Order: sequence, then structure tokens, then C-alpha cells
Amino acid sequence: MGAEKIIIDCDPGQDDAINLLLAMSSPAELEILGITTVAGNVPLEFTQRNARLICDVADRGDMRVYAGCPRPMVRPLLTAEKVHGGTGIDGIEVGTPKQPLQQRHAVDFIVDTLLAADDASITLVPTGPLTNIAMAIVKDPSILAKVRRIVLMGGAMREGGNFSPSAEFNILVDPHAAQVVFECGRPLVVMGLDVTHQVIATRERVARIAALANPAALATAGMLGFFNRHDSKKYGYEGAPLHDPCTVAWLLCPELFDGHDCNVVVETASPLTMGHTAVDFWGVTGRRPNATWVHAVDADGFYDLLVERIGRYST
Ligand code: BDR
Ligand code: CA
Repeated sequence: MGAEKIIIDCDPGQDDAINLLLAMSSPAELEILGITTVAGNVPLEFTQRNARLICDVADRGDMRVYAGCPRPMVRPLLTAEKVHGGTGIDGIEVGTPKQPLQQRHAVDFIVDTLLAADDASITLVPTGPLTNIAMAIVKDPSILAKVRRIVLMGGAMREGGNFSPSAEFNILVDPHAAQVVFECGRPLVVMGLDVTHQVIATRERVARIAALANPAALATAGMLGFFNRHDSKKYGYEGAPLHDPCTVAWLLCPELFDGHDCNVVVETASPLTMGHTAVDFWGVTGRRPNATWVHAVDADGFYDLLVERIGRYST
């Protein structure tokens, strides 16, 4: 079997950016058909710019970056500059990217690419609010037959929320889009805070990456330097959780993770718990499983993988 064909839909964000670097370092396993961007951590004009800057860091002029939806389906946009800084990727120098922005809308790119593909042949990797993915499904539901699986970062069960007491940021920003995705009927692998909070970017792990001293490594270490400051203060951890790279790490090395098939529904009505992921981990509702809820990871193995892959930018 050849490389798995993927579309990464993201809102960089330091952890989205590191996820892109991880994916671009792994061409034997992953063929990136396109990088689509959405409003989330920062507004769309910044997320699309940041994705292009990361392609520059990786020296990947062959990548195609598309801009998608500038706001969620129903709710007003909520951003996270307090976590990611004003640029979204504070910690590195942010200038004008060399990489051009594609003219086509991200949702059209997703729809057209899927329609032209074989059945169950393309994997979607969303690491931001699910607006673009849901809009593509709403625009043409026949694309779903072409989706192999969706491996996403979002949601929380045991860990509680990180942007409200009960909701994780990506799901809270666009809960209506998230529910479209959770009920889409294709295989879903979900990296919620329960697992991402296990991959902490400790000082020692960041130092291992920095020591690689190539442009991707220095960018990763620089971004983590900023990201760690906020999250360490918030959680009292020794560093920040590296949320989004859990998606690509799972595609590369699923044996590092443990997951459990169960039903997940998104709260879209209650003002108090908006965006909560109701995870039926113990199967108490009788509702059919619609997702693999990933709840554990070998964190040292995860960082060994990240260090090895970022090290590839040295050659
Ligand atoms: C998620 O929200 C964003 O701040 C991160 O990029 C990640 O995708 C974690 O809740
Ligand atoms: Ca993200």
C-alpha cells in the first residue's frame, strides 16, 4: 500500500504548525493533498498566512494552502490569542510568506478533491474548529463515500474543558459543525484533551528538539517556548500539551495510542455546556458507537517519534 492520502484542515496555532511539520516530514506514510485553513485560534487571514509560513520553514514549495471559512456555522467566532499570541504562532518570526495562497476556497477544494477520488480513499485530519469539514459535507454529502476516515483533535471527557468548564476549544468554537462531523457515519478517530494532556512538552523534550538545530527544529522549539508559558501557568504542568500532533502521530504510529469505540454527541443547545462532548465511554446509552475515543498514549514514544521526524529536516 502507498502513502495514505490526507487533507490537513487547521488553524495554526503553534501545535497545528508542529503537526504540519510532522506530516511534511513523513512522505513515505502520508501524501498531503492540500492544507486547508479555518478561523479558530486566530482569524482566517492569520491562520492561512501561518500555514504558508510553516511550508516555508519546511522548504515545501510543492504544498498547496487554501483559505476556508472565516467564521463558524452559527455562532460568532471565538479566538485564542491569549494562548497562541497575536500572530497565532508567537515564538517565531512572522513575516510575509513566500508560499502563495491558492485562489480556490478550501471547502471547494475539499469537495472537488473528494469527488474525484476513489471510494474510502482520503483521510481528513482536522485540527481546528470543524467548520470547513462540515460545510463540505453540507455542500455535497456524496463526498462522504470518498472519506476513508477522519482523524481529528477536539473534545474532552475526563479532563473537562479548556475553554469553558465543559468544552474543549475546537468543539466550542463551532459545535454545530462538530455535530455534523460526529454524525457523518464515516470512521472517526478523536484526540480529545484526555489524551493530548498526556503529551506534555517538558523543558527536556523541547531541549531535545532544539538540539537538532535545523530550521524546523528551531521553529518548533521557538513556538513551544511561547506556548509553554501560557499553558504551564494555566495547568501548573511543566509544559504545554501538544494537542494537534496527536492526529498525525496516530496515523504514523497508532500502536502508541489506546482508544475505545463509543458514541459521542456534541451539546449544541445549552448555554452552560455548549460544545461539550458527551462521550458514552461505558456504553450506558445504547447509542451506536460513532467514534474511536483515544484516551491514552505512550508519551515518551510520541516524543521519540517527533524528535526523529523533525530531525529529518537536517538532511
Ligand atoms: C485545540 O485548540 C487550539 O488552541 C489548539 O490548536 C488545539 O487544536 C486544543 O484545545
Ligand atoms: Ca488547532
